[in-house]
Amino acid sequence: MSQTILRVEGLSKTFPVEYSIVERVQGKPRRAVKALTGVSLEVQRGETLGLVGESGCGKSTLARCLVRLYDADAGRVEYDGLEVLKLRGAGLRQYNRRVQMVFQDPFSSLNPRMTVVQTLREAILVHGLRKPQEVPGRIRELLKLVGLPKDAERRLPHEFSGGQRQRIGIARALSVEPETLIADELVSALDVSVQAQVVNLLLELQERLHLTVLFVAHDLRLVRHISHRVAVMYLGRVVELADTEKLFSNPAHPYTQALLRAAPELDPSRKSVLEAVRGELPSPLNPPPGCAFHPRCPQAFDRCRQEIPALVRRGPEERLVACHLLEATEAKPQA
Ligand SMILES: Nc1ncnc2c1ncn2[C@@H]1O[C@H](COP(=O)(O)OP(=O)(O)O)[C@@H](O)[C@H]1O
Ligand code: SF4
Ligand SMILES: [Mg+2]
Repeated sequence: MSQTILRVEGLSKTFPVEYSIVERVQGKPRRAVKALTGVSLEVQRGETLGLVGESGCGKSTLARCLVRLYDADAGRVEYDGLEVLKLRGAGLRQYNRRVQMVFQDPFSSLNPRMTVVQTLREAILVHGLRKPQEVPGRIRELLKLVGLPKDAERRLPHEFSGGQRQRIGIARALSVEPETLIADELVSALDVSVQAQVVNLLLELQERLHLTVLFVAHDLRLVRHISHRVAVMYLGRVVELADTEKLFSNPAHPYTQALLRAAPELDPSRKSVLEAVRGELPSPLNPPPGCAFHPRCPQAFDRCRQEIPALVRRGPEERLVACHLLEATEAKPQA
């Protein structure tokens, strides 16, 4: 039986845009980037939920709001019964131990002057998880778990390859014995051959340690390989959420369909994506009214330009879609 561990409801986040003197003199209103608009999703205990969408659609903002690196403007996040957005002090520290984030660039999050052993020891001791005499054994265990050689202990981050540094980042996250990992573009900066190794390591760890994983990425192949379910975001909203194989074999939302027709990479620098999804991603400063996808959607009709489609259950499966084309067969109960 699946059990929801993380529930996100109506999460919104805007970033104010710098207000120039000229704009102020001209009496122009302050503008804000709508990075997240009413995002709702659930993550089941022990699953890997993939989160995909073009660059700029709000994936990292969502990940950062979930670990409280950013303060959301509105909405609710519930983790194992905790009201995450209300946590303070020791409660927040404990939550941040249980839910760990692993970043794309481990260089920026690893202290360049600390050896691996120092980094891991600090993480373990900060949370008082082991007695000091148990720490060396635990560090050896962690290095083995992530496939790093024993002599890695005394080395500094710059002495490792990109893939190995990512393993150190994972070891550090695991050192505090989390239940959930939020991996934001974990392998995007690595060579393709190394990407597969790190993703396979994550798969193995997820099963072995019964971790819950939110895997944020723009590479659909990787997401398909690792995720049990996938959420697709467009311009600050979730537009489709379904079991991985169902989503890939039978995408329901016109945006998901376009993404799958495009190259597996959702890198905006690659033309093929823009060709498959007509036109460019609209500015989150001024998202289109109604369905934000309507200017690019080949199937848009009048209603799409006026009314925002709700994310509701479609058909007999556990699939959520936000699109007027598909009649809701089983609307979610209204709160
Ligand atoms: N710290 C920030 N300050 C201002 N704008 C931001 C900040 N972080 C993200 N944004 C904006 O929010 C939108 C979503 O960005 P992001 O969450 O990084 O998307 P993704 O991870 O999907 O590429 C983008 O328009 C981005 O420019
Ligand atoms: S709501 Fe309309 S514009 Fe949006 S994806 Fe569905 S058909 Fe296209
Ligand atoms: Mg990002």
